[in-house]
Amino acid sequence: MATKDATPEGTGRNSFVYVVAALAALNGLLFGFDTGVIAGAMLYIQNSFDLTALFGYPMSASFVEGLIVSGAMGGAIVGAAFGGRLADRLGRRRLILVGAVIFFVGSLVMAIAPNVEVLIFGRLINGVGIGFASVVGPLYISELAPPKIRGSLVSLNQLTITSGILVAYLVNYAFSGGGDWRWMLGLGMVPAVVLFAGMLFMPESPRWLYEQGRVEDARDVLSRTRTEGRVAAELREIKETVKTESGTVGDLFKPWVRPMLVVGVGLAAFQQVTGINVVMYYAPVILESTGFQDTASILATVGIGVVNVVMTVVAVLLIDRTGRRPLLLTGLVGMTVMLGLLGLAFFLPGLSGIVGWLATIGLMLYVAFFAIGLGPVFWLLISEIYPTQIRGTAMGAATVVNWAANLLVSLTFLGLVDAVGQASTFWLFGACCLAALVFCYKLVPETKGRTLEEIEADLREKTLVGPDDRPDAVGSDD
Ligand code: GLC
Repeated sequence: MATKDATPEGTGRNSFVYVVAALAALNGLLFGFDTGVIAGAMLYIQNSFDLTALFGYPMSASFVEGLIVSGAMGGAIVGAAFGGRLADRLGRRRLILVGAVIFFVGSLVMAIAPNVEVLIFGRLINGVGIGFASVVGPLYISELAPPKIRGSLVSLNQLTITSGILVAYLVNYAFSGGGDWRWMLGLGMVPAVVLFAGMLFMPESPRWLYEQGRVEDARDVLSRTRTEGRVAAELREIKETVKTESGTVGDLFKPWVRPMLVVGVGLAAFQQVTGINVVMYYAPVILESTGFQDTASILATVGIGVVNVVMTVVAVLLIDRTGRRPLLLTGLVGMTVMLGLLGLAFFLPGLSGIVGWLATIGLMLYVAFFAIGLGPVFWLLISEIYPTQIRGTAMGAATVVNWAANLLVSLTFLGLVDAVGQASTFWLFGACCLAALVFCYKLVPETKGRTLEEIEADLREKTLVGPDDRPDAVGSDD
């Protein structure tokens, strides 16, 4: 049955693997859409419901609004906390199916919500779906991908996250005339159905199957996604790694895993405290504060969304060639510089007339640098640097931290601006960027081109640390 194709060793028989990855990346689309859509929908939800009470108890409207917006992030923390272990127990594919059902139900509940309590409940349900998706999407793709294109394939998930955010902005814009917030939120049902139906035909991760003792099934999946020669070799590698005892949560803290726990959790926090979602969620607010009108700021926001998608495409194309570290470090340097300049634009009184334009350009460049580095590289690395037995659990831990930091930053941003002003807020994010740069330079390993088993072997031998572990890694001495 094997028709060998002409693709280079290690990337053989790719077409099917691209289908699997593209379909699984719908997880990212749902993640991006559901997090991006609420800001625009909120404007109209205010007109439909009384936001000054919950279950008959009087509340402040801004508190109830905060619950609607952040409900999804709260749900995502819970989803990520359980998602990793569930992925290890149930399997990656089955958890994606469960997640798709959850997305569907959550979107439906929101679309038909008779009152604000049910709406918040729908957001929480969707949030659990987002939490599952953010762990299992990259995990599944990473375990199915041939090593030489793993970076690009896993980064497809970040590409769909950014596309989901952009679609959300456009949907908000399209439905803004009639104020149809039910349609805005309900549209999430469509990709959920496609994801569910498609995943029914997709294989389980070969690495998870092997873990479960289903060696023949694992071989089957590999032979559908690799050239003949690679199947036996990769199966042998998986076998050698998996022969050790099966993993527990305690393994996260074993001395040989701990450095990568620090890397995963550190990257998770830095990806958020450097401010990306302040731009994703509040760009119109930031731009209006510079004197832009409503429509101008919405259009500029769409422009920012486009830059985010386009630069993520660049990252997808580059990541297996340049490696992870060069993109990460370049991106961080660029983000730091842009945040410094943005702060300056808001700080210097002489610039006040053109500050709107400067801010728009500054925000676009900042997002561009995020999109080629910290955005995709975080999700990719946490799917690569952990041993197979606890990969799901470890990714879950990093992802919980990512969502918690996201919640923290987005809830405190407006208050922070009130307290210290916009300039200092950007500089604060800039300082976090600088810290992230040092952290990444010192601790983040290069994983380009190696199988997950080779990475794990390096981890056990404690050679997967810092910049200089491989000749093809950047950075030199340290
Ligand atoms: C990353 C972040 C997410 C952010 C997105 C923006 O996926 O994890 O929080 O919204 O990038 O592109």
